[in-house]
Amino acid sequence: MPLPKADEPKGGSYEVQIRDDEMRGLEVRVAYTWIRLDAEGKRPALVQVAETREKRSVLAAEIIKGVMLPQFALLPLAVLLVWLALVRGIKPLSQLEERIRERKPDDLSPLDDKAVPMEVAPLVVSVNDLLERLKDSIVTQKRFLADAAHQLKTPLAGLRMQADLAQRSGSSEEDLKKSLQQIGRASVQATHTVNQLLSLARAEGGGAHLTLQSCDMVKLASEVLQDSLPHAMDKGLDLGYEGVDANTPGVQVQGNPTLLKEMLRNLVENAIHYTPSTPERQGVITLRVLVDPYSRALVIQVEDNGPGIPPPERELVFQPFYRALGTNVDGSGLGLPIVKEIALQHGASVTVDAAHPSQTPPGACFTLRFGVN
Ligand SMILES: Nc1ncnc2c1ncn2[C@@H]1O[C@H](COP(=O)(O)OP(=O)(O)O)[C@@H](O)[C@H]1O
Ligand SMILES: [Mg+2]
Repeated sequence: MPLPKADEPKGGSYEVQIRDDEMRGLEVRVAYTWIRLDAEGKRPALVQVAETREKRSVLAAEIIKGVMLPQFALLPLAVLLVWLALVRGIKPLSQLEERIRERKPDDLSPLDDKAVPMEVAPLVVSVNDLLERLKDSIVTQKRFLADAAHQLKTPLAGLRMQADLAQRSGSSEEDLKKSLQQIGRASVQATHTVNQLLSLARAEGGGAHLTLQSCDMVKLASEVLQDSLPHAMDKGLDLGYEGVDANTPGVQVQGNPTLLKEMLRNLVENAIHYTPSTPERQGVITLRVLVDPYSRALVIQVEDNGPGIPPPERELVFQPFYRALGTNVDGSGLGLPIVKEIALQHGASVTVDAAHPSQTPPGACFTLRFGVN
């Protein structure tokens, strides 16, 4: 047998040691130890036991066979099972996808949230919620379109009728003049409705890309009053301003001056339209710009002493095309919706109350309150 590299016990160690070696051309693993033969340990004897490594390699191969081979079978099986589970789990989702794909564009009925895995049920619920809101908004839009068409149809039908009348043979100059007057009136009304529709579209579409600038509401209010003064004087109305001066702290609003003026103009024009003025009782319209002393909120009021709006209608008048009956005033019913839309975009609320609740007529007082939402 080959001897270990060091032929003496190292550092007096008599423990069993192990090494790799070669014997008759075979790799062997050798365990050896030095044994003390005499008391002094002067001449130690070496005891060696060797074993070929073949047995070990066979064992290693067997272990690999036992562990690795089943893996080759197990892995594809696991992959197959996972795949089957996924297909099964995803099936309801693909069915859902198919159902959505097959829907008609106008079908806004809710999706069935029972036939989907628990994990996606909340998603389906929120999609249903969205569908519900979409349905509401489409219904509103359809109604709006129908109302707008109706509003335009009336003056246009009037136009055509008057034109037919005027063209009839044998109509006098007097009749012709009358027809032309009616035609003029109808076209003014149609133009007004179209203008109001456009400005509502502008107000609604303006929200996203509104160029904001600091607007002095007192200045805007006085510009609106100046523009409307001739109209008010024609009707014998007293149109005036009350409240703080321009440049007072708190009267600035971040917003679009054109829209803000449009909002005030609609309120003032309504007051002018709906407030009668007689020699016995003069119509008085007051535009007020105030800063609330407690909350520092900016408050704008347009007050008149006309018929006012009865409590049940005070919400309704802000809906598109709603017009109170029996006012004998031409209009489109879009003025107050425009006011509401612009107010909303500038963080203001708009409400209407009786100006003088104890009097008859009570008058109307429209209040815009900024910085409430
Ligand atoms: N100052 C006011 N006094 C009395 N009624 C008013 C006043 N302002 C508005 N209204 C009522 O509210 C309705 C809606 O007003 P609006 O939206 O401006 O439409 P329009 O003026 O075109 O009718 C009017 O038809 C009118 O009945
Ligand atoms: Mg109006």
